[in-house]
Amino acid sequence: MSSNVIAICNQKGGVGKTTTAINLAAALAGIGKKILILDLDPQGNASTGLGIEYSERRNSIYEVLSNTISFDEGVKKTNLENLFIIPSNVELSGIEPELANENDKAFVLKSLMNNSDSINKYDYVFIDCPPALSLLTVMAMTAASSVLVPLQCEFFALEGLSQLIKTVDRVHKNLNPSLSIDGIILTMFDKRNKLSTQVAMDVKKHLQEKVFDTMIPRNVRVSEAPSFGMPAIIYDRRSKGSQAYLQLADEILRRTNSKEAA
Ligand SMILES: Nc1ncnc2c1ncn2[C@@H]1O[C@H](COP(=O)(O)OP(=O)(O)O)[C@@H](O)[C@H]1O
Ligand SMILES: [Mg+2]
Repeated sequence: MSSNVIAICNQKGGVGKTTTAINLAAALAGIGKKILILDLDPQGNASTGLGIEYSERRNSIYEVLSNTISFDEGVKKTNLENLFIIPSNVELSGIEPELANENDKAFVLKSLMNNSDSINKYDYVFIDCPPALSLLTVMAMTAASSVLVPLQCEFFALEGLSQLIKTVDRVHKNLNPSLSIDGIILTMFDKRNKLSTQVAMDVKKHLQEKVFDTMIPRNVRVSEAPSFGMPAIIYDRRSKGSQAYLQLADEILRRTNSKEAA
């Protein structure tokens, strides 16, 4: 199985999980890495942001998790070379009660991935999680090798982080001993805003090397891109937001390479 399965988690909505998933994925696909995104949010924003038509979402992650189709049958091409996705649709919101009585429900995604014939061909799998510490997120953490946490540079950023860390610890202890947080990405940073700078400094002071050097600035081109069905780095590669995501992708490559070498 692919060693780089990265769950992008934060129980808050609107912090940049999906934006980070599609731009990192596109950046790494652009340098020849083979990438799979699992859209694990019933809102399907990653699917929309990559221009996946609604007609293509009928065979979605919901059908995969409920065993109607195989994992590999769920995989769709995107408009970008090397970038694949298992899309999501609103039906996914019904999966948690359906699996409620299943034994080992936390392992459902992991075992489907383990049984996939094609999973090994991906260099990175990114799981775009819903804004909740729900079964779907626990499933993603159970299947993942690491958790990436986008943190918005605002006053309440750190509130909720301790709960997220507790969930990761619990999954680490009970379900997935190889899981760790690697790392935290500061998003929507606004250097003209004192509070934004203060929050960034606080987070770096408390979480130190867990925090990526690259911060993602608030940038209007980043927010425009999804309505064109494109990652920002394709929509406007030269924008400050895109440049930051390209730099973040480099940082992730360096970190995963040194982890593999260790
Ligand atoms: N760096 C950024 N600059 C400006 N807007 C952003 C940035 N990152 C994300 N956004 C916008 O903020 C909103 C929430 O981002 P999103 O990635 O969907 O968050 P989440 O997946 O955590 O809910 C979206 O409208 C997105 O386009
Ligand atoms: Mg999202």
